[in-house]
Amino acid sequence: MVRAVAPRRTSRDDIPVARRSRPPQRSRRRGSGLWIACLLVFSSCLGVVLLGPALLTRFAPQPQVVDGIAETPSVDGRLLGHFPYAEATSINLVRVGPGLELHIDAAQALRSMQRAAASDGVDLRLLSGYRSHALQKGIFFDVKSERNQTASERAKVSAPPGYSEHSTGLAVDLGDGDAPATNLSESFETTSAFRWLQDHAASYHFTLSFPEGNNQGVSYEPWHWRFEGSADALRQFEPARRLALTR
Ligand code: DAL
Ligand code: ZN
Repeated sequence: MVRAVAPRRTSRDDIPVARRSRPPQRSRRRGSGLWIACLLVFSSCLGVVLLGPALLTRFAPQPQVVDGIAETPSVDGRLLGHFPYAEATSINLVRVGPGLELHIDAAQALRSMQRAAASDGVDLRLLSGYRSHALQKGIFFDVKSERNQTASERAKVSAPPGYSEHSTGLAVDLGDGDAPATNLSESFETTSAFRWLQDHAASYHFTLSFPEGNNQGVSYEPWHWRFEGSADALRQFEPARRLALTR
């Protein structure tokens, strides 16, 4: 007896005949919808190309222009080599000596660092801390005038108002109590205070802002250190840190 062999089922067989047999239909509406979508994408791209630069200029943060300085900030926001910094808010500032204020985070770290230095026989002195934009204005322009300097010459040693790390309350100028003659001078690098800072400042999250040959083009300042021991401080100094890493 011959047994009928059942035909092999393919996956196509799982489709009901009614559906299988319906001829494929191309929707005319779908075709025109595709054209409209293409047209929209094309016109959007054209709009971005034509209007993009104008919109970027219109909505980009406007660089801070400083009265009395002809130069305008560069694309990375720097003016005469210095990055812009907002003033610390008064709630974050603490008095750390006569006429001296610091951001509370920097103040605490500095106190610990001074104690550690003292136990090694080093007298670390705070010479300058927080400076308002108004104070920085006097330091920049009044001294510039006294010394008959151009803005570029002055900016080698002092930041224009709105552009000093001191405005954050996180930067400090340090001296050696045993060698006051070296205060705010390159000769500070010969002091035991500077050598101690080179070996230990990183433990307290202080870093030298303007080492010799720095990429900002600011003169060597062995006395000027900034505190980078909080997320907020890291954020504020990120552009400066990134520039320092490029060569
Ligand atoms: N002396 C540094 C550059 C300042 O004025 O912030
Ligand atoms: Zn300084």
